[in-house]
Formats: sequence, structure tokens, C-alpha cells
Amino acid sequence: MTPMLFALPGNETMCARLAEQLGWDTGALETRRFPDGESYLRFADAVRGREVVLVCTLDRPDDKAISLVLAAGIARENGATRVGLVAPYLAYMRQDAVFKPGEGITSGHFARLLSGAVDWMVTIDPHLHRHATLDEIYTIPTLVVKAAPSISAWIARELRQPVIVGPDGESEQWAAEVARDAGCAVTVLTKTRHGDHDVEVSVPDTAHWQGFTTVLVDDIASTARTMIAAAGHITAAGLAAPVCIAVHPVFAGSAYADLQAAGVSRIVSCNTIAHPSNAIDLSAPLAAGIRTLHARLG
Ligand code: R5P
Repeated sequence: MTPMLFALPGNETMCARLAEQLGWDTGALETRRFPDGESYLRFADAVRGREVVLVCTLDRPDDKAISLVLAAGIARENGATRVGLVAPYLAYMRQDAVFKPGEGITSGHFARLLSGAVDWMVTIDPHLHRHATLDEIYTIPTLVVKAAPSISAWIARELRQPVIVGPDGESEQWAAEVARDAGCAVTVLTKTRHGDHDVEVSVPDTAHWQGFTTVLVDDIASTARTMIAAAGHITAAGLAAPVCIAVHPVFAGSAYADLQAAGVSRIVSCNTIAHPSNAIDLSAPLAAGIRTLHARLG
């Protein structure tokens, strides 16, 4: 029997697209909150003898992680043979070091939580900076799907004479790959973050960019301060307002409105998190990644 996909709340569209691409069934997971705020979950379709795949993107993870861990446990309690997780956005990857005494490497704690709950995981471009691979912190089999080919295809289709700008060293891995696949130039800036909302990026050398479409590419847009700072330099240099592309449109608080107000020409994101800026559908590469890991597991 093929695995059965279940959407945690908010993941219904991605779950349906994956089911269609994979040819797997979807089941219904009933969820609600008890009056005291605790989570109620019930598999409305029988999971006995089936492999269960939970689809749950993990932005705002503190609201979602408990339901996810409970869903995995309840699936097993009801006879699921194996439980997989498809998390298009994987949270808690940025605290990958101790920056101040008394802190902890949260990415590792979160990895242990998920590794204890599910048997495998597929995700899209996790923020791998000081961790080289997910295997350094996850003890379950994982597979990482890349957004770069889909972003490059979108750029090649939609933009005239693009030049890619990575706003910081960490973005180089995405920016360079996107530029290579789209066949255009790339430049990577340096960033200093003084606080959550206080970001400084270096001034790009824009001497040869007149007439080009500057495209800011970053993995995560959270406060959007990184994109706003980079966009500011581009427009201050007298160039056309840039296009901003984020793999993961987290957009905390007023970040999306702030970026719109910063004079950028267009904000585009991948659908790892449902958001009005979604323009690049990653369900096909995600389904391919799930199929690959699934075949590997046997
Ligand atoms: C961190 O290095 C990431 O690659 C992003 O640049 C960062 O998360 C963006 O954060 P924000 O939108 O809050 O500036």
C-alpha cells in the first residue's frame, strides 16, 4: 500500500499537490484546540498498516511543533508502520552556534525533538551555515530539495538582463547557484547584524549595472531588514528598483509591508510557506525528493 499524506493546518494546498504528483492518498487529520489551549488531534482516516506522511511547514514553529510531535505519536498509536515528515521550511536552523554565554545551539535541540518524533524528513534549503549537513544534527534519514533550479527558471522566464545579488555571505550558496543556472552575473555583499531589526550590508559595486535588472536572492526573509538594506544601496546608486526573491517567505510582523514600502519593484517567493508573494511552485521538486528518499528507505 502507498503511504498516506496528512496536512497539518495550513498545509492543505501543498499536501494536495504532493498527493497528485506522487499518486499517494491523502487522509484527514482533525485538529482543534481545547478551551485551555491544548491540542486535540484525530486521524479521521484509518492509518493501521499504512505509512503516514505529515506535511507541515515549520514557520512560527512554537505554535506547530507540539501538534506535529503529537500527530506522529498518535499515528503510531493507531498502527502506522512508519511516519515521515515533509517540512518545506525547517525552523530553528539559524541558532547554529553559541554567540553569547548562556545560550544554546537551538538547531540541535530542535533536531533532537523532530528526530525522536518521525522516521524521516524531507525539507527545502534549510539554513545550513555552520552545520555542513543536516546529518550533523538530525539522527533520522533526511533529504534536502534545492530551490535554485526553479528560481533560475523563473528568472530566465520573467526578467530581462538579470544580475543576481546575494545580500550576505550565507546567501552565496543560493545566489551563486541561481546565477549559474540562469546564466548571469552574481555579486555577494557582506552583512553585519547589530540586532534583530538592525542590519548593515556592504555597498555593491554597481558600476556596470545600468540597464540590468538587479535581483536580490536570499533564503529567508524574516524581518526583511537584510533585503531592505541591500535594496537601499541599489536604488541609492541610481539603478532601477530591485526584484526580491526569497526561498522562505517567513515575513515576521510588518516585514512584508515594510519591504513593499522600501521601493522594490517586485517581491517573489517560493511556496515553502503559503504567502501572497508565492510565485515559484516547488511541489514538483519536493515530490521528487520525497520519492527519492522513500525509495532509498525501501
Ligand atoms: C541569514 O543569514 C539568512 O540568510 C537571511 O539573510 C536572514 O535570515 C534574513 O533575515 P531578515 O529578513 O530578518 O533580515
